[in-house]
Amino acid sequence: MRLITCGLPYANGKAHIGHLRTYIPADVYVRYLRLMGEKVLFICGSDCHGTPIVVNAEKEGIEPRKLVDRYHEHFKKVFAAVGVEFDFFGRTDSDYHHEMTTNFVKRLIDNGYVYSKEIELAYCPNCKRFLPDRYVEGICPYCGAIARGDECDQGCGRYLEPGEIKEPRCKICGTKAEFRKQKHYFFKLTAFKDFLLDYLEKLKGTENALNYAKQWVRQELKDWCITRNLEWGVKFPGEDLVVYVWVDAPIGYISYTREACKEKGCDWEQIWIKGVRKEGEIRWANITHFIGLDIVYHHCIFWPAMLKAADFALPSAVVASGMVKVEGKTFSKSRGYVVWVEDDYLKAGFDPDYLRYYIVNYTSHQKDLNFSWKVFMDKVNNELIANLGNFIYRVLHFAWKNFGGDVWDLVNSDEVLDDQVVEAIEKARDEIVKALEEWEFKVASDAFMELASFGNNYFQSREPWELIKKDRGECAKVMANCLHLVKALVILSYPVLPFSMSKVADFIGLKDFSFDDVSKFEKVRVVKKPKLPFKKVEEEKIEEMERIMLERIRKAEEKEKASKSEYVTIDEFKKLDIRVGRIVKAEKIKKSRKLIRLEVDIGGEVRQIVAGIAETYEPEELVGKLVVVLTNMKPAKLMGVESQGMLLAADVDGKAVLLMPEREVPPGSKVR
Ligand code: 2FM
Ligand code: ZN
Repeated sequence: MRLITCGLPYANGKAHIGHLRTYIPADVYVRYLRLMGEKVLFICGSDCHGTPIVVNAEKEGIEPRKLVDRYHEHFKKVFAAVGVEFDFFGRTDSDYHHEMTTNFVKRLIDNGYVYSKEIELAYCPNCKRFLPDRYVEGICPYCGAIARGDECDQGCGRYLEPGEIKEPRCKICGTKAEFRKQKHYFFKLTAFKDFLLDYLEKLKGTENALNYAKQWVRQELKDWCITRNLEWGVKFPGEDLVVYVWVDAPIGYISYTREACKEKGCDWEQIWIKGVRKEGEIRWANITHFIGLDIVYHHCIFWPAMLKAADFALPSAVVASGMVKVEGKTFSKSRGYVVWVEDDYLKAGFDPDYLRYYIVNYTSHQKDLNFSWKVFMDKVNNELIANLGNFIYRVLHFAWKNFGGDVWDLVNSDEVLDDQVVEAIEKARDEIVKALEEWEFKVASDAFMELASFGNNYFQSREPWELIKKDRGECAKVMANCLHLVKALVILSYPVLPFSMSKVADFIGLKDFSFDDVSKFEKVRVVKKPKLPFKKVEEEKIEEMERIMLERIRKAEEKEKASKSEYVTIDEFKKLDIRVGRIVKAEKIKKSRKLIRLEVDIGGEVRQIVAGIAETYEPEELVGKLVVVLTNMKPAKLMGVESQGMLLAADVDGKAVLLMPEREVPPGSKVR
C-alpha cells in the first residue's frame, strides 16, 4: 500500500485557490496511480490547533472547537465539489489524534530526544499571560522585518523560535511585552544533522523542496522548542503546556492513516513503522507528501528528524507546489488578491474540471502559478473545448448520427487500427507515465492534449463526412480509429477531468477502466445520444468575475488607507469602554498639587482612579458626583498610586473640568 498525503489545511478560514494548487495535483496523481494499478491510500484532514485559530475564535467570542467545526465542514464540502477525493479526512482535535500524538511524544522522550530548559519568553503584563506564536508581533532578529509569532512571513521567511523575536508586543492589546522565564521542552534537532544530510541526498521529490532543505541543514540547525503556553492543543505529558502545533500536525498523517486503515482494512504500522526497505540508517516508507513551498522546512527537516527519533519509517518523497499569484500579483487575502473556491468559483457555476485543468496545465508544478480570469477563459475555450471537447463530440456525434453509434457491422477486426493512431496513443501514454515519475503534471496533461490535436487532424484529413457519401465501409474504418482515440483520451485525461470524462465514458459504455485498456483493442460504440462534454465560458461571466475581484481589491485598499488615516473607525471607537461612574470617595494625594485619589463605582465594581483635578475641585465636593470614566485604560502608577481608569474632562486653560451626565443615570451605564 502506498500512502499519499496532502498538507493539512488549517481549519481557520475558507478554501482558496492557493490551497487547491497542492490538493488538485495530488488528487490527479492519485487517480493516475490507481489507473496504473497501484494500491493507494490518500489522506488529509484539518489542522485544528495553533494560535491563529485561538486568536480568531477569541475575536469571534466562540470556542476554538466551534470555529474548527465550521471550517472543517467547509473544506470537506469544497474538496467533494472539486473532485479531490480523500480516503479519509480527519481532524487533529479528535481523541484518536490526541492519543497518537501523546504516544509519539512519549516515544521522543523515552528515546532521549527531549530536554527541558528555562527560557525567556514574551509576556504581556496587561493581559497577564505569555504570548505564544501569533500572540506576539515584533522584529525579526535575522532580517529586521516586522515578524509575527513563529515566522518572519514578510521578510526572510525564517521560522522563529519562542523568545527570538525582538521588541515584542502583545498582538491583542498592543502592550510592549516583557520577558519572563519559564521552563519549556526542546527536541534535539541538532542531533540529526548528519542523518538529515544523508536522508536529503536520497529523498525523492521536487527540486524546489530538496534544494532549500539541503541548504538549511548545511547552514545551521537549532534545537526546537516543542511546547507552548496554551489551552487549545494536545497536552504535553505531565505539564500545563500543549505541544507546538507543528509537532502535532504532521503526526496527523499517522493518526489519519490509522483511522483510514480501520475503514479500509490496511495495516498502518506496516506503512509507518515497518516500512518497505532499509538502507543504512534509513528505513524507507512508501509515503509521498504533497505540500506547499512554504512548509518545506517542516516537512524536510523537523518531520523526518521527529520520525527518526521516534523510530518510525521515513517518507520517500516530498512534492512541493510553487506559489500562487492572482492576476499577476502575489496572492494576498488581506490585499484582495484571492479567489475563494466556494464563493467565487463554485457559486458562479463554473465546472470544477476547468479549474483542475487550469491548475494542472498552467505551468510546471514547481513554478509560480498565476490565476487570471481571462487566461482561465482562454484555456477553457481555446484548449479544453476547442481541442479535446471538439474532437470527442465530433466523433461521438458523427458515429451516432450516421451509424447509430455502432460502426462494427462494417469493420470487425483490430487490423482496422491505423499504425499512426496506435503509435500516437502509446506515445501519449508513455509520456504521461514518465511525466508522473517526475511530478510534471503539466507535461502529463499536455500529452493528452496533443493526442486530442492528433485526433482532430486525423478526423479532418480523413474527411469522414465526404467518405460517408462514397464508401460507408471506409468511413466506418476511420470512425473506428476515432472511437479508439476517444476511449484512450477518456482514460488518459480522466484523472485531470473526472467529472466530464465520467460522462463521456458513459456515452461509450466504458466502465472500470485502467491504463491497460488505453491501447487494448475493443469495439467502442456510442451507446447513448452524446452531449457536449464542456460548456463554453462566456465573456460576460468573466467580466463579472473581474469586477468582483476589482471591487475586493478596492475595498482592501480602502481598509488599508483607513487604518493609516487620522480618522478613527467605529470599530476603533468601540474598543474604548467608557462608562458613567459615581465617586464614592475622594482624597488629596500627599505631596501632589494636582492629583486626587478617587474611588469610583462603575456599576458593581469600585475602581481606584487617580485624576489631575485638584486645581479645580476640592475632594469633599466630588463625593456623590456622576462622572465619565474610560475603564479599559491600561493601568498606570501616578505618584506611586495605581490608577485603574481615567476620568474624562474638558481642558480649560490647562485646568480639568469634569464631564458629567446631563441627568441622573445608573453607574455602569455605557457611553456610546
Ligand atoms: O501550513 C499549513 O497550512 C499547515 N496547516 C500545514 C500542516 S501540514 C502537516 F504537517 F500537518
Ligand atoms: Zn526575517
